[in-house]
Amino acid sequence: MSSTKPRPGPRAARRFVDWVTVTLPSVPAAAAYLDHAATTPLSPAAREAFVDELSRTGNPSSLHAAGRAARRTVEEARESVAAALGARPSEVVFTAGGTEADNLAVKGLFWGRRTTDPRRRRIVVSAVEHHAVLDPAFWMAEHAGAEIVLLPVDGDGRVDLAALRAEIAEHADEIALVSVMWANNEVGTLQPVAEVVQLARPHGIPVHSDAVQAVGQVPVDFAASGLDAMTISGHKLGGPVGVGALVARRDAPLTPVLHGGGQERGVRSGTLDAPAIRAFGVAVAETVAQREERAAHVAALRDALVAGVRERVPGAVLSGPEPAPATRLPGNAHFTFPGAEGDSLLYLLDSAGVQASTGSACQAGVPQPSHVLLAMGVPEHDARGALRFSLGATSTPDDVARLLDALPAAVERARAAGLASAPARTAVASRTGGAA
Ligand SMILES: Cc1ncc(COP(=O)(O)O)c(C=O)c1O
Repeated sequence: MSSTKPRPGPRAARRFVDWVTVTLPSVPAAAAYLDHAATTPLSPAAREAFVDELSRTGNPSSLHAAGRAARRTVEEARESVAAALGARPSEVVFTAGGTEADNLAVKGLFWGRRTTDPRRRRIVVSAVEHHAVLDPAFWMAEHAGAEIVLLPVDGDGRVDLAALRAEIAEHADEIALVSVMWANNEVGTLQPVAEVVQLARPHGIPVHSDAVQAVGQVPVDFAASGLDAMTISGHKLGGPVGVGALVARRDAPLTPVLHGGGQERGVRSGTLDAPAIRAFGVAVAETVAQREERAAHVAALRDALVAGVRERVPGAVLSGPEPAPATRLPGNAHFTFPGAEGDSLLYLLDSAGVQASTGSACQAGVPQPSHVLLAMGVPEHDARGALRFSLGATSTPDDVARLLDALPAAVERARAAGLASAPARTAVASRTGGAA
C-alpha cells in the first residue's frame, strides 16, 4: 500500500483556488502594517539566532556537553538582557512572555509579601493596566483574599499620584504591592514610575511595572528605576512570541506560581526554551542599542500621521497627551472618531490594505469600549470609535500615506453605517482581540 496520499488532479486544484479566491477576503499585496504594539516583526538578527539554535539539542538543565552548551546560550542571553536594561543577570527570570511575567509579579508578590505580613491584602493597580495585570489582580480578589484598589488616571491616562499618596497614607501597612505600567499599550501614555516608587518603597511596599511597550521606545533602566519587578516581552521588541522575562530584585518577595523542576532559581519552573531565549537576548540588545535612532524615526512618522489625520478627518480626537518625548511613546497614535464604530473602521481599513487595532477587547462577540478610555473620562459612545495606529522599526512614510488616503472614506462609511452595523461583528469570537 502506498504511504503517500493521492494528489488532487488539476481540476480539483483549480476548484480549490477558486474556492479560496471567492471565500477568503483578498489581502492587498503590500499592506500597511500599523499594529506594531500588538506584535512587531522578528528582527533579522533575532531570526538568525533563533533558527541557528533550533538546530541544536540540549536541555539547559542537563549536565552533559549538549546541556552545558544550551545553558551557556541561556546565560549569555541573560547577561545581554540584563546589560541592556540596567539589571544584574541574576535578576532576569525568563518566562513564556509578558502575560506570564505579569501573573508572576502580581500573584507572586502578593503571596510573598502577605506571607511575611498577613495584614497586607491590598493590591494597588492603575485603572489603565493591561489585562495581564488587571485580571490576575481581580482573580486574587476572588480566590486569594486580596482587595483591589484601582488608581484613577487623568484625561491623558496618567496615574493620579495624589490618589496613591492618599492610599499609602491611610493603608501603608495593608498594601501587598503596587503595579503601574511604564507605558500604556492603547494610548501610549508614559507613567510616572519613578514617583510611584518614591511613594511606595519607603513603606516596604514592592512595586512592579509592566514595561512591555516601553523597552526599545523610551529609556528603561531597572536599577535606576528603583522597581522591585518589571515585565518585558519578546514579540513587542523584535524577538519571538512566547518568551519574555520578569526582571526582579533578588530580595523581591516572590512566591513561585509555576512549580516543577525548580529552574530560574526556583521562581519559575519549566524547561528553558534556549532558541527563543537566545533570540530574545539578541532582540533586546539590538532594540535598546538602536533606541534613539528608531525613536526619532517612528516619532517623525507618528507626527506626520497625527497631523494628517487631524487635517483630513473632521472630528478625529487624539487620545492621550500631545506627542512629546516625555509624555507618550514615540510610535503610538490613538484616535477616537465619534459616530463611527472602531470595529467597522478596522475592517474597512483592512480591506483597503491598512492594518490597525481598536486596542480593546470583545466579549461574547460584542465589542467593548476600552477600559483605558473609560478611565480617562472618554464618553462610552466616543470610546466605541477608537483606533490605535502603532509604528515600529520597519514602518515607512508609505504606510502613513496609505492610511491617510484610506481613512477619510472609511470614517465616512463607518459613520454612515452607524453604531448598529459593524460589518464583521459576527466574525469576532468570544473575548478575542483583547487589548494587545
Ligand atoms: C502592556 C502589555 N502587557 C502585557 C502584554 C502581554 O504580553 P504577551 O503577549 O507577551 O503575553 C502586552 C501585549 O499584549 C502588553 O501590551
